[in-house]
Formats: sequence, structure tokens, C-alpha cells
Amino acid sequence: MKKSPRTRSQQPNRTVSIIGTGSYVPERVLTNADLEKIVETSDDWITTRTGIKARRIAAKDEFTSHMAARAAQRAMEQANVAPEEIDLIIVGTITPDNFTPATACHVQRIIGAKKAACFDISAACSGFLYAVEIAQQFIANHTYNTVLVIGADKLSSIMDWQDRNTCVLFGDGAGAAILRYRAGSHGVITTYMGSDGNYGDILHVPGGGCALPTTAENASEKLNTLKMNGRETFKQAVLSMGVAATRALEQAGLTADDLTCIIPHQANIRIIEALADRMKIPLEKFHVNLDRYGNTSAAAVAIALDEANREGRFQVGDYILLVVFGGGLTYASSVIQW
Ligand code: ACO
Repeated sequence: MKKSPRTRSQQPNRTVSIIGTGSYVPERVLTNADLEKIVETSDDWITTRTGIKARRIAAKDEFTSHMAARAAQRAMEQANVAPEEIDLIIVGTITPDNFTPATACHVQRIIGAKKAACFDISAACSGFLYAVEIAQQFIANHTYNTVLVIGADKLSSIMDWQDRNTCVLFGDGAGAAILRYRAGSHGVITTYMGSDGNYGDILHVPGGGCALPTTAENASEKLNTLKMNGRETFKQAVLSMGVAATRALEQAGLTADDLTCIIPHQANIRIIEALADRMKIPLEKFHVNLDRYGNTSAAAVAIALDEANREGRFQVGDYILLVVFGGGLTYASSVIQW
């Protein structure tokens, strides 16, 4: 009779904690006043419609992988984790350095995480939370012990700088977290993820892929820049984040009152206000930094998490909720006991 091998499912699932966070934003600040010189807009319009006052723009030779690696190094420092201890690197991004290799492979080379497996995921602004869930599954089922998760985007590289509908909203940056099994800790309690491909065209980059490759003929049509239906995106953002947050709390058996801090996607202060209203949570519990960084896509929730962590907005044992939405349409929410 053949011997039956020991399978992962025979081992009890492990709890997974975020043991370190880090973030990085480029040096160059682009204010609303600067944008007034580029497109027909005003500080007043941008501030009242979005809450954004400034954003960071990466230098020409500063790529997504460079920002991602800087954020990763800060997370590793906080977690006291050496590069060789990292088993897996996942980067959530829609602005990879190249189509291939994956940005995660570039990060691996820069930080010297020699034994890590590496891949990117594409879930737009939801990329970081999608990656957290993937990491937690790998650790819980004993495949890996230590995973580096990064959300990083250089959205300035896919902006149409003549389109005031989009160029005032976005910025560049990266955020990272180290996830690891930690006995006796609840860690990432639950994540709810969802998508609706029917809304793909409300926020998309039409060209540059195999459907519409950039050619000498169409190069001037800006097909490889981000196009957005702002009003529809706003509506779907409030709806989908509300659903994701509610489902994640239900799965965790908690209510909004149990939360010490909410880290939302940083797209627009009015979206966050609408979510706070819907969930009946005071706005003060939401960590907001979009006034300084704008919407940094997959990096946004990761940078906000790192900031809130370093500012001591929550303590060990507190419940926090992360909630995001992005192109796809994609959305997700995680409940974490710190
Ligand atoms: N400056 C001045 N006027 C502008 C600007 C600007 N930067 N941008 C648009 N306008 C004009 C438009 O041309 C339009 O003019 P018109 O009515 O004469 O055609 C008018 O302002 C539109 O005004 P509103 O419809 O009142 O604008 P709204 O309140 O919907 O705000 C905004 C627009 C900020 C884009 C909002 O819809 C929004 O935030 N949507 C969600 C965007 C978002 O979150 N995107 C990213 C999500 S996913 C991800 O993060 C990758």
C-alpha cells in the first residue's frame, strides 16, 4: 500500500500578524497652486471637491520598484527581519517597472532577499489588501513563514497631464508590511474581497496592453493614460467600501463600535465622509493623509497604515479596519487585531 503524504490541510491553521510597516514617498511636492499653472483648475476646486492639497511625484529615474524597496526596508527595520528571512514578496501595483520581470523581482534584487519567491498582483488601489490576504493564506497554511507585502505605484507615469479630471487626484508612493506567524495573537482576523468586472471601464487604461498595443500610429492619442468616469467611480466607491467593511466586520463577529481606527483608501475626503456616515463611525476614527499625498493607488492604504502605526493611533490588542476600492472594480476590507 502506498504511504499517504502529510498534507498542509492536516496541520492547524496559524494566526498571522503584521509585525512591521514602512512607507516611502518621493521628495518632490506638487501643490494645487503648481497644478493651476499646468491645467485650468484652482486650489479651491480641488480642495472642496477632494480634500487634496498636495501630492508627491517621483523623479524620472525613480521607479515603482525603487519606492517599493525603500518602503520594504523601513518595514523590515521595524520588524527586525533580515532580507534572507523573507520567503515571499508580493507587490500590488498597476504601474510595474516593466511588463516583465515582476516589480517584486526588482525589489528582491534591491533588498537582497535571495530566497524569496516573487510576483506582482494587479488589483489597482485594492492591490495591497488583496496581497495581504494572499500572504495570510500562505502563512496560515504553513507554506511560508515570513512574507513581504507591498503596495506601490507611480501613477504620475500613466497620467495625462492635460486632463484636469484625473491629473489633480493622484500621486506616487509605496507602503509595505511584513507578515509572519505569531503565536497567541489574533493578527489578520478576516478579509473580505470582491470585484465587479462590469464596471471595468469607469477607471481604466485603454492602451499599452495586447488589446491596444502602443504603435507609431496611435502613440499621440494618450491611450496609455488613466481614463476615469469620476461620478460613477465616486458612487461605486462608497457602495463597495460599505459592503466590504460590513461583511468583514460580520465575518469577524465585531461591530463598528469595536474599532479603534479605520484606515480607508485615500481617494477623496468626501468618499471617506460618506463611508463614515454610512457606517455611523465618527470621522475622527479614520486616518486621513490624502491632503498631503493625494491618491497613491495601491500604496495609499499601506502608507496610511504605516503612518497611523508610527503615530501610535492604535495599540497592541486594538481592532482596526482597512477598507479599499479600486479599478476593476475591486474592493476589500480586513479586520486586524494589532
Ligand atoms: N478643476 C476644475 N474643474 C474641474 C476639474 C478640475 N481639476 N476636474 C473636473 N472639473 C470640472 C468638470 O469639467 C465638470 O465641468 P462641467 O460640469 O462644466 O462639465 C465639473 O468640474 C464636474 O464637477 P462635479 O461633477 O461637481 O465634480 P464632482 O463633485 O463629481 O467631483 C471628482 C469630481 C473629484 C472627480 C469626484 O467625482 C471623485 O472624486 N470621484 C472619484 C474619483 C476617484 O476616487 N478615483 C480613483 C478611484 S480608484 C483608484 O484609486 C485608482
